[in-house]
Amino acid sequence: MNLKGLNILVTGGAGFIGSHIVESLINNGAKVRIIDNFSTGSLENLKGIIEKVDIIEGDILNYNLLLKACKDIDVISHQAAQLEIITCMQDPIFDLKSNTEASLNVFNAAVKSNVKKIIYASSACIYGQAEYIPQDEEHPNKPNWPYGVSKLAVEKYSKIYTDYYKIPMIGLRYGITYGPREWYGRVLTIFLKRALEKKLPVVWGGEQLRDFIYVSDAVDLHNLCIKNNDLVNEIFNVSTGIGTSIKDLAEIVIKTLNLEGSPIFEDLDEGNISKEVEGRPRLPLELKRMVLDNKKAKKILKWEPKIKLKEGIIKEFEWLKNNITKWKNISI
Ligand SMILES: NC(=O)c1ccc[n+]([C@@H]2O[C@H](COP(=O)([O-])OP(=O)(O)OC[C@H]3O[C@@H](n4cnc5c(N)ncnc54)[C@H](O)[C@@H]3O)[C@@H](O)[C@H]2O)c1
Repeated sequence: MNLKGLNILVTGGAGFIGSHIVESLINNGAKVRIIDNFSTGSLENLKGIIEKVDIIEGDILNYNLLLKACKDIDVISHQAAQLEIITCMQDPIFDLKSNTEASLNVFNAAVKSNVKKIIYASSACIYGQAEYIPQDEEHPNKPNWPYGVSKLAVEKYSKIYTDYYKIPMIGLRYGITYGPREWYGRVLTIFLKRALEKKLPVVWGGEQLRDFIYVSDAVDLHNLCIKNNDLVNEIFNVSTGIGTSIKDLAEIVIKTLNLEGSPIFEDLDEGNISKEVEGRPRLPLELKRMVLDNKKAKKILKWEPKIKLKEGIIKEFEWLKNNITKWKNISI
């Protein structure tokens, strides 16, 4: 894809998904600036491309800094957010500020700076408990966590900004995005971290369904949204449309990584701390099913996810093995 001549600002560009976006944009010829407060992101994530990126260290809650960051920018890729479920439950106001207020700052700075388009990260969490699967973009929005509310609000604001200021805005409802540089203690990273120690996956329940999308597939979809000039205000699920149960995920990890034995089933109520995975609570108000229909992206963007779950798991595991220090910091 040729992105030559485009100046793109990536908020949260030092984070997991953001750094993959930055890398891909640069490889496709765009000029990239990032703004990141490095709360969870790191310069290490930009290894290999760092000298090609214009880096602004700071918070997107700082409007004046954002105005500086938006100078001469054509497109904003807005990825910065707080996404920890435990944090949003303990501090919904911080979550609201980081996700909704900060996004409005980005939108306002974009309008003021005549930015031509915004692609922003939303989340599958805006749906809440699935009423049917796969969930298409028209599925009811009843978030079960504050994080879903703060992300849904951004989608609603985006529609108003497009209508009023005529700025195209495209929201991406990512499923469970995984791959190298994923950092936090979520189900797959917990399984992989244990696998590195030759420990078997610990499963709570196991029937929960999740839609795992490999990060390069998400980036491909994101880039197609930059190229497509017909999009005005759209929302796309970013997903495979395939539901994998957590107990199947555990079996896949065992087989793919040649562990010996079967998953450990721990009887743990939501919100309680695990004995098997030290310090890790089972999330409260857990989602039972999350499987996102990707027909819309396939049809409009001619996009197709390419990486199969087993292949993606191997790639993420290889990265973990080569980045032990990062892995040690995984927050579980
Ligand atoms: N990873 C997933 O599975 C997933 C799923 C759904 C949605 N998302 C969304 O995708 C986006 C990227 O997520 P990620 O997984 O890469 O997370 P991440 O934590 O790795 O990336 C977020 C980046 O934003 C930065 N940041 C956070 N708050 C900031 C602030 N106030 N000002 C400036 N920088 C700030 C962090 O330092 C980090 O570099 C987020 O908007 C997230 O809500 C991710």
